[in-house]
Amino acid sequence: MTELGPVAWPPAPIRTERLVLREPEARDRATVIELLTSPEVGTYLGGPQPRDELERTMPQTPSRRPGLFIVDFGGAMIGQITLTRETGHLRQAAGKAELGYLFLPQAWGFGYATEACAAALDWFAGALPGEPVVLATQTANVRSLRLATKLGFTEVERFEAYGAEQWFGEWSPVTTSV
Ligand SMILES: CC(C)(COP(=O)(O)OP(=O)(O)OC[C@H]1O[C@@H](n2cnc3c(N)ncnc32)[C@H](O)[C@@H]1OP(=O)(O)O)[C@@H](O)C(=O)NCCC(=O)NCCS
Repeated sequence: MTELGPVAWPPAPIRTERLVLREPEARDRATVIELLTSPEVGTYLGGPQPRDELERTMPQTPSRRPGLFIVDFGGAMIGQITLTRETGHLRQAAGKAELGYLFLPQAWGFGYATEACAAALDWFAGALPGEPVVLATQTANVRSLRLATKLGFTEVERFEAYGAEQWFGEWSPVTTSV
């Protein structure tokens, strides 16, 4: 993974109607581990990560990095969003800003992911004007695909990777001519 680009980081916490997007804090550590070890969350992501290893290796405050937002509802973490420039994991995404999202299963079904991702994309469009964002998700990951479509990602291609069909989409900021 490489740096996101020439952005001022961190931005001030981003507030939406119900949520706050902010940097990780020490109090999020247990929830980050819960998120990464959840079998439900990991279903289409190659499975959950091993808890004992995460407990051992995760710093007291989960790592902060440009493009990583904790999604906070009422003072508690419910998920995380990443806008990162990946190298290598998929040829299609190389060098491009890529959106990722993980929410706790108990927070699914309330529109929180839509609300948080829309705000993150809005921030991105302001920070790196005109730049597209890409996203890859398994076509079997129906919730994720629905979210991507709602956010305005459109299909570029489908392909096989990691033993499953992948959907690769792109989002472009709306440009208004002055
Ligand atoms: C992908 C993921 C973030 C989607 O979560 P989600 O809660 O389904 O997404 P949304 O925020 O769009 O919520 C949509 C649901 O909220 C409902 N909803 C309720 N109140 C709402 C409101 N005020 N506004 C909008 N939607 C609302 C919608 O009707 C919809 O319900 P449905 O699922 O019954 O159709 C979640 O499933 C997840 O974390 N999965 C595991 C990680 C993963 O696979 N990530 C993909 C990596 S590429």
